[in-house]
This record gives sequence, structure tokens and C-alpha cells, in this order.
Amino acid sequence: MFDEYGIPDDADLEFAALTLETFVYCSRATDGVDDAEVNRIIEFSQRRNVARGITGVLVFGSGVFFQWIEGPPAEVQTLIASLHDDSRHYDIVPLDRSIEKRERLYLGWEMERVEADDIRSVLHEALDSAEDEHNAAALKRILAHLDSEPLAALGRG
Ligand SMILES: Cc1cc2nc3c(=O)[nH]c(=O)nc-3n(C[C@H](O)[C@H](O)[C@H](O)COP(=O)(O)O)c2cc1C
Repeated sequence: MFDEYGIPDDADLEFAALTLETFVYCSRATDGVDDAEVNRIIEFSQRRNVARGITGVLVFGSGVFFQWIEGPPAEVQTLIASLHDDSRHYDIVPLDRSIEKRERLYLGWEMERVEADDIRSVLHEALDSAEDEHNAAALKRILAHLDSEPLAALGRG
């Protein structure tokens, strides 16, 4: 009923519960990471995530990434390690991480480009509930970066 990556073979079974690890984080794009580089990340991730049974969403706007990843725990853990080694972003702030038996929230892999205001409200919520002082400090740095963006640059990705 599932293939080796935990993706249901049959579309009717797409809401079946399975053991999924979820990782949600935000980070800042390193200087020099331009649209072409973001497109390379998206193209690579698209192929790699399908092969690993990972689904989720990557949001990018005003130099800030926000990503939701869900999939088989071993695959998600491998990806988390790669993300931490990737010099194209920094100030990685884990916002949520869990392993539970549940339905997938995302059936495929999506990419969204958003405006700074959308990211700002998500980060403010995260800051309100941040318990770890390093995470709170990184969130404040990201928010300060968003606040310092010239208006003309907002939403340009
Ligand atoms: C913001 C961001 C999001 C990324 N998302 C993914 C992803 O969803 N899937 C993926 O395979 N790689 C993603 N990557 C690329 C990984 O960090 C890494 O380069 C890639 O998985 C290759 O890792 P490896 O050389 O350890 O195999 C992302 C990179 C960045 C900077």
C-alpha cells in the first residue's frame, strides 16, 4: 500500500496515516544567494524530495527562507544534516520538530514566494513562543533584517 518511501501507491489512500517526522525552520539567505541560486535549490530539492518521500513547502521572501518538511524520519534527518551544512543560508532557527503517526499535510513539494510582511507575522508568532534564547536571538536578527529592508525591495524575493 505504500512504496518504499512511504508514499501511498493508490491515490485513494493518500490520507492514510504513517509515521512522519516534521521539521519546520526559518533561516537567512547568505549574501550573494540570488534568484538563480534559489531556483537551483528549488529544482534540486524537487527531484531529491520526490525520491526520498519528502513533501512540504519552501517559502522565500526578502532574503528569508521558511521551510516545512515532512517525511520518513530517516530521510528527514539526513536532510536536516545537509541543511545545517549548507552555506547558502545561516541563522537557522528550528521552529517545530516532531515524529508522529499522522496524515501528510502536503502531498507534494511546493514553493512559494511571499512578501516580507507575511514572513514577519510568522516570525513574530514564533518569537512570542520561543523558549530557547539562541533561537529567540536569531529570530530577532531576522526580524531586524526584514525591518531594515528598503521599502522598494520588499516582496522582490
Ligand atoms: C533554504 C534551503 C532549502 C533546501 N531544501 C532542500 C530540500 O527540501 N530538499 C533537499 O534535498 N535539499 C534541500 N536543500 C539543499 C540541501 O541543503 C543540500 O544542499 C542538498 O540536500 C544536498 O545535500 P548533500 O550534498 O548532503 O546530499 C535546501 C537548501 C537550502 C539553502
